[in-house]
Amino acid sequence: MSAATQSTTTPPTAPGTAPDGAEQPVEALLDAQHPEGGEPAPDAEDAKSHRTVPRSAAFRRFIAQGWGPRPAEDTGLAPSAPFAARRREVLSSLFPGEVLVVPAGPLVRRSNDCDYRYRPHSAFAHLTGLGTDREADAVLVLHPRGDEGHEDVLYLRPQAGRDSEEFFANARYGELWVGPRPSLAAQAAVTGLECRDVALLADELSASVADAATTGLRVVADADPAVTAVVAPLRTGAAEQVRAADDELVTALSELRLVKDEWEVGQLREAVAATVRGFEEVVRALPRAVGHPRGERVVEAAFDGTARVEGNGVGYETISAAGDHACTLHWIRNDGPVRSGDLLLLDAGVEADSLYTADVTRTLPVDGRFTDDQRRVYQAVLDAADAAFAVARPGVRFREVHEAAMRVIADRLSAWGVLPVDAATSLEPEGQYHRRWMAHGTSHHLGLDVHDCAQARREMYLDAELRPGMVFTIEPGLYVKAEDELAPAELRGIGVRIEDDVLVTEDGVENLSAALPRTADEVEAWMASLRG
Ligand code: GLY
Ligand code: MN
Ligand code: MN
Repeated sequence: MSAATQSTTTPPTAPGTAPDGAEQPVEALLDAQHPEGGEPAPDAEDAKSHRTVPRSAAFRRFIAQGWGPRPAEDTGLAPSAPFAARRREVLSSLFPGEVLVVPAGPLVRRSNDCDYRYRPHSAFAHLTGLGTDREADAVLVLHPRGDEGHEDVLYLRPQAGRDSEEFFANARYGELWVGPRPSLAAQAAVTGLECRDVALLADELSASVADAATTGLRVVADADPAVTAVVAPLRTGAAEQVRAADDELVTALSELRLVKDEWEVGQLREAVAATVRGFEEVVRALPRAVGHPRGERVVEAAFDGTARVEGNGVGYETISAAGDHACTLHWIRNDGPVRSGDLLLLDAGVEADSLYTADVTRTLPVDGRFTDDQRRVYQAVLDAADAAFAVARPGVRFREVHEAAMRVIADRLSAWGVLPVDAATSLEPEGQYHRRWMAHGTSHHLGLDVHDCAQARREMYLDAELRPGMVFTIEPGLYVKAEDELAPAELRGIGVRIEDDVLVTEDGVENLSAALPRTADEVEAWMASLRG
């Protein structure tokens, strides 16, 4: 439904009392935090707008009454809550005496008066265990409490009363438009956190900073510019010091996610299982895709439909790349045909409702059978993946996984006669000729973000030893563009990537996406079985 026939106007001093007990002026603070969400005064707006908002006193009285109690709220402690509490304890120990501010982030405008579907900042999701779309503008604060670490408080928009203007007139937040927000009491019960009205945020941050025992304040600055602005007057120190302090917090939050706990691994397993079902749907849809002018979209729709039904959606834009499009590493335009005889590279992942995502690639022969040339490239990539799997275990450095895959890629390209130097020379840092045919890395951490832990320091990521509980991808590829004059003619237009999600165990790795076939023969048999 469009908001065009209803005003989204919410005057800063809209009357009404929130059921959580807070006086309504919470809107004033929120609109000050989010000027783009605030609207001109009703009269000025109405005078130049086509919108019709009922403003009569009679209507306001009428809309506010005659409502029974809301349905009972979910008040069970979320299974994620004890894990989130442990993560906050670790964070607390890293920054004793400091106020830590982790916003969920605001709604983001897609265009005009339409927002993107809401997704909280991953650091916020990690520290609260909340993965739904209900926390726009929320802020988690760890207030220092001397020797006792921190007091963790979740500041949220409280429920707006049915007697508020927001209830009927605010298309971004209003209950009649987007559904009711949970009460603070329900949020507290679900998260196990102390929950307070976000209207209290500025004052309580001030008080916390003013406490004699407080030694500093840090904020995840890019999560919500409005919250960053609220904390700005409370900062001391030069701009570079402030930025460095915030960057350290972001780095710590990223590194906190390097090793997944048991609950996170469970979520990743669910995301991968749903992804496997999405791939199966794609194989069933392939006959429909062939011949359709935008067959890649048929593939995308089959996967994304499954993702939306089974989880929160896709964890990143689906890459549905047939034929030469497979050589475009992040081909998400997906507007090409799927031709008989070609390969289809499908790189796709379901994001669970908890926001943990899979990231899996399979390269499928559209007709169900690889040609000899396709098989040759496929086997080289599979061998590279197997080499990476063979070295991956605790104690091995993250970059060694990539190096193992690269040795195979360079050897195979050398055997095909396409490298200007021998494989060993190409593998030297000052060579790297083989990377022309595989420009991306072999692995990245996986979790709440598809490229998880991206702000971790090099020594904690690329140069770090693998530890049990880490989850990352193994995804070598070879991409021979159709116009590549250095490649054998028969291989041009062939792009292959094989991507699995792996969990580091005590003595090796577990392939979380092993339910999808990997060898060329297995892929053919699997496709045949699904096509009946
Ligand atoms: N889907 C993006 C990647 O594999 O990293
Ligand atoms: Mn990946
Ligand atoms: Mn991928």
